[in-house]
Amino acid sequence: DTEEGVTYTVKAQKGKTEIFNGIETNTLGYNGAFLGPMLRLEKGDKVKIRTINELDEETTFHWHGLEIAGDADGGPHSTVKPGEEKIIEFKVTQEASTLWFHPHPEGKTSEQVYNGLAGLLYIEDANSRNHTLPNIYGENDIPVIFQDRNFTSEKQLDYKATMNEDGTIGDTLLINGTVNPKLTVNKEKVRLRLLNGSNARNFTFKLNSGDSFVQVATDGGLLNKPVPLKELTLTPSERAEIIIDFAHLSTIDDVALIDEEDSVLLPFEISNDRGVESGIPTQMNDFSLTEEEMSLPVSKKVELFGMMDMVTINGKKFDPNRIDFTQQQGVTEIWEIYNKPDMMGGMIHPFHIHGTQFKIISRDGNAPPENERGWKDSISVKPDEKVKIAVQFKNKGVYMFHCHILEHEDNGMMGQIKVE
Ligand code: C2O
Ligand code: CU
Ligand code: CU
Repeated sequence: DTEEGVTYTVKAQKGKTEIFNGIETNTLGYNGAFLGPMLRLEKGDKVKIRTINELDEETTFHWHGLEIAGDADGGPHSTVKPGEEKIIEFKVTQEASTLWFHPHPEGKTSEQVYNGLAGLLYIEDANSRNHTLPNIYGENDIPVIFQDRNFTSEKQLDYKATMNEDGTIGDTLLINGTVNPKLTVNKEKVRLRLLNGSNARNFTFKLNSGDSFVQVATDGGLLNKPVPLKELTLTPSERAEIIIDFAHLSTIDDVALIDEEDSVLLPFEISNDRGVESGIPTQMNDFSLTEEEMSLPVSKKVELFGMMDMVTINGKKFDPNRIDFTQQQGVTEIWEIYNKPDMMGGMIHPFHIHGTQFKIISRDGNAPPENERGWKDSISVKPDEKVKIAVQFKNKGVYMFHCHILEHEDNGMMGQIKVE
């Protein structure tokens, strides 16, 4: 651990962005017109962030995945009015991971995120630095934010046009805020830090060459072992770090990440440059489920239900004046998340808890898949599925838990836990 102080300024701003060539559209961004900067922190850092709201409306600054005190977490209670600022201070106590930040004003989260308020927050530590994993930012260690969006016929970013209450499903894919991107890579191992930053859409990733890739990290840290995969699905707000070995693909022609319907998500251009030597260690972390965690009884039950605007948690909609659960700081409890189907069968709800990284104990009684045996802050829960998780909070305060389909969250599929 270092004891260094780090200060950042994060401004929520309005701007104009040429998403399509030659045509500007109104957007929102952090420290710029669209999306945000990548904030890099080291475990042990003492951090001060000056958050400034330069929008015409209230916003909050939420640090998704960060283990931080409730009053600095940026939930709907922590509004920053237009023209105002708020300074938060915290110490980074968690391990290397790819987190993100976005606004969380009550009822307005989905629209503000949609219009561009989202940024990445990387945490590094001694373990992540020691490894030979690809780590040259922008070269062989690349953030890839996937978001689907709609535009009017005049190519203006348009939240309202085709909105439905299960989330705005967009017909245009933006990657790191650009349309039709192509990623140029060397013939080397490349680490992609994937974030599903969409409001509602799930993304499945495969290589069109049929090759596998390896997942090395979950939402909140490195996996113990690299997990080879042919395909990977991320629900909204989930992250995964994957490594594609461009030196050993079965073809180098027209290689792309594609979705489950074989549509191209991200095409690659593979240069002849061999890049740098990096590796994938066989042992990367020491994540484990303890005997105690495995044997504790369920003490909190969360029932997700509904679709459109008829969404609830434990039969209720969000009420900022109601505390739904309490938990002691530093004490592990087992939460059971159940997605109750409706007459139509139901839909996947991505479930997220603020201020903590938790562990999946089981999915419908079975051990989680290998690529979920690591720290998580968001999980997909399928209709009729029961997921047991071990949850501990390192800090105190009031935190949200909610469905990360942002329209569901804005429609009240959210509750509050007070950690004392
Ligand atoms: Cu991405 Cu309530 O959070
Ligand atoms: Cu969050
Ligand atoms: Cu939902």
